[in-house]
Amino acid sequence: MTATLDGSNTAAHASKAAVTLSGVTKAFGAGNRRVLAIDGIDLEVPTGSFTCIVGASGCGKSTLLSLVAGLEQPTSGALSVEGKTALMFQESALFSWLTLQGNVELAIKLRGGTSKADRAAEARAMLELVHLGDFARHRPHEVSGGMRQRAALARALAQQPEVLLMDEPFGALDAITRDLLHEELEQLWSSRGTTVLFVTHNVREAVRLGDRVVVLSSRPGRVVESIDVPIPRPRRIESSAVADLAAHVADRLREEVSRHGR
Ligand SMILES: Nc1ncnc2c1ncn2[C@@H]1O[C@H](COP(=O)(O)OP(=O)(O)OP(=O)(O)O)[C@@H](O)[C@H]1O
Ligand SMILES: [Mg+2]
Repeated sequence: MTATLDGSNTAAHASKAAVTLSGVTKAFGAGNRRVLAIDGIDLEVPTGSFTCIVGASGCGKSTLLSLVAGLEQPTSGALSVEGKTALMFQESALFSWLTLQGNVELAIKLRGGTSKADRAAEARAMLELVHLGDFARHRPHEVSGGMRQRAALARALAQQPEVLLMDEPFGALDAITRDLLHEELEQLWSSRGTTVLFVTHNVREAVRLGDRVVVLSSRPGRVVESIDVPIPRPRRIESSAVADLAAHVADRLREEVSRHGR
């Protein structure tokens, strides 16, 4: 897909944007059942960056990811995505009748161009990468929630996306498991150069992970602020630098929510 922009996306930019939204609006339904989910979003996501998106429940975060993933079409505006996307959902959404290995192999098969033996070896390597080598033959209900999210991450990576879209992937996990997954995700991101668009309710998680945090307004979602995160990596979610910036992000969100009387 390509989009024409207002001239800001020129050769003067050091890196090309992996994802560009220009005045993107999405409405669902018609007549008096029409819901405006997002309204005129402008967003440029540089290639290889880690962008976190925060916003109140129902402000259109999942809608935004669905648009970038191509699962929904914008009602108006222009959207451009460079390369393949993979979407990781809040629930792991693994196939319950397949083993973890089977789930990852299926993603590789759908990607195409690999033999059965190569798929098996690659799936195994992906599971090792997320520390699930010993659980390859287990089915999703036989492993913990954190392990299922790891397997979902392996499945998303197996699609070899240029842009990884993550919709509150760690929301249901305990703090320790989530911290570990943050470290693993950060390492995979920095070693692979994948562009990540990460949606979360959790402002600390957003500041812990992101190069920047984009704050959306309450529905309909609009970008109210894009906050750069200058804290050096590796970061700790408990650090005072993360807590201080997260407090600023939370204040912005609170202002937005109170503006809408919720
Ligand atoms: N397929 C759909 N059909 C109709 N309305 C929809 C559809 N998908 C989303 N919506 C509406 O669009 C709005 C935004 O929904 P969305 O799921 O994007 O919010 P969200 O920010 O992801 O919320 P949460 O934080 O609770 O996950 C909501 O009012 C929702 O009801
Ligand atoms: Mg959502």
